[in-house]
Amino acid sequence: MVLDAILGRRSIRDYANRPVSEEQVKTLLEAAMAAPSASDRRPWQFIVVRDPELRRGLARTHQFSGMAEKAPVVFVVCGDEQASAHWMVDGSAATENLLVQATAMGLGGCWVAIFPREERERHVRELLGIPSGIRVLCLVPLGYPAAPKPPRTRYEERCVHYDRY
Ligand SMILES: Cc1cc2nc3c(=O)[nH]c(=O)nc-3n(C[C@H](O)[C@H](O)[C@H](O)COP(=O)(O)O)c2cc1C
Repeated sequence: MVLDAILGRRSIRDYANRPVSEEQVKTLLEAAMAAPSASDRRPWQFIVVRDPELRRGLARTHQFSGMAEKAPVVFVVCGDEQASAHWMVDGSAATENLLVQATAMGLGGCWVAIFPREERERHVRELLGIPSGIRVLCLVPLGYPAAPKPPRTRYEERCVHYDRY
């Protein structure tokens, strides 16, 4: 059931010493690019980073990005702001699709924020040679989890309103 993967998706920050194949990467990107997109513009761009030196650089982006060094692969989710004002929203939908698909494949990742911090974006842009106009939304370090995390529901009745707020 899709809900199993959705509730099973947890932020994974420690990874087993096990590779992620090109085929798996392609499946994850296929899931990402199947996300809904405003006016079907699909402004997303993805950089798949495996190079250890570049991953070390990504890990140094900020205080909470250190796991990029340990993950076998890091997805950098970007968006073309010329193509769509919704680049950030569309990229977020794509990122969630990728994370849920990873869970279904026994993999685990973590959304690492870049947007909306300019200094973080500048760091990633310079490191990976990202052209101006292509914005950086987030990093997703990903691999096989070092330890399982239990699925959980986060359903809260107080967040639900019927007919009127
Ligand atoms: C927009 C966004 C930014 C996040 N940034 C980071 C981050 O920089 N570093 C990190 O370790 N986790 C980050 N997270 C993961 C959250 O900490 C995590 O989703 C939250 O604690 C709930 O845990 P769960 O993902 O296991 O359900 C981010 C999540 C989102 C949605």
